[in-house]
Amino acid sequence: MGTWQTLDVRGTAAEARAREVVHEALDAGVRFIDSSPMYGEAERVLGEALGGRRDEAVVATKVWTSDAAEGEAQVERALRWYGGRVDLYQVHNLVAWPEQLAMLERHRDAGEVRAIGATHWNPSAFGELAEVMRSGRIVAIQIPYNPHEREVEREILPLAEELGLGVVVMRPLGAGRLMRAAPGDAELAPLREFGVRTWAQALLKWVLLDRRCTVAIPATSRPERTRENAAAGAPPWFDDDARARVARLAGAGRQ
Ligand SMILES: NC(=O)c1ccc[n+]([C@@H]2O[C@H](COP(=O)([O-])OP(=O)(O)OC[C@H]3O[C@@H](n4cnc5c(N)ncnc54)[C@H](OP(=O)(O)O)[C@@H]3O)[C@@H](O)[C@H]2O)c1
Repeated sequence: MGTWQTLDVRGTAAEARAREVVHEALDAGVRFIDSSPMYGEAERVLGEALGGRRDEAVVATKVWTSDAAEGEAQVERALRWYGGRVDLYQVHNLVAWPEQLAMLERHRDAGEVRAIGATHWNPSAFGELAEVMRSGRIVAIQIPYNPHEREVEREILPLAEELGLGVVVMRPLGAGRLMRAAPGDAELAPLREFGVRTWAQALLKWVLLDRRCTVAIPATSRPERTRENAAAGAPPWFDDDARARVARLAGAGRQ
């Protein structure tokens, strides 16, 4: 599950609802939750929502600054919020990655960070991302992938497979844009045999059929949608025809 915007909330009522999103997600089987200091209050709200359930989640967050002291401060805060351990620490948008990787490696060697990764959303940075992947210093990447954003198929996914890197898929629903013209029941009917009831589930299964993708992280502010999204993380998986159908249904005319 992602947390951009959805957990960037402040105030008693909004934070109670955010807690509900996190708890419903855990109850529904969501295990991987991604955040970043770029997402305002989200890291803190996630940490407080996890509370005594911290060990049920694989927590991924990010360092996002070119300033060394601020990078250390971001890590110290995250370690406080996540019980002294971050499971996957990523360099957000590759900002100052040589310096930030060295800093994260020190925390990994101290046992506070389990794994290190790097993220970028923009295809214009994929050349640099490939360079970091080849450095041998990261074990996972985070990239956008959905029927309207397929640039990673050219170099990044094949390279991740070659190097054995984990792949975290951001924006599996196109940041919500792919949900705006959802196909109707009749168009989704041929996908029912794959356990698909909704368009969001079709899009998530579209990502997850690609076995190079380790995990998809849809974000939602609605507790009830966490169960719907989590259900798409279980088999049966699409065959190639079903996957092609989803890409057709998501066609350019629907953007
Ligand atoms: N590293 C980076 O540069 C970067 C960039 C972007 C994102 N990310 C990460 O990736 C995560 C996911 O990306 P994203 O949040 O941009 O987009 P997304 O997950 O593709 O889409 C989120 C949007 O989809 C809606 N939605 C979720 N489930 C739905 C459902 N079942 N039915 C209908 N609508 C649904 C949400 O609205 P509701 O709240 O109304 O459900 C929200 O507006 C982020 O939260 C963040 O953790 C990283």
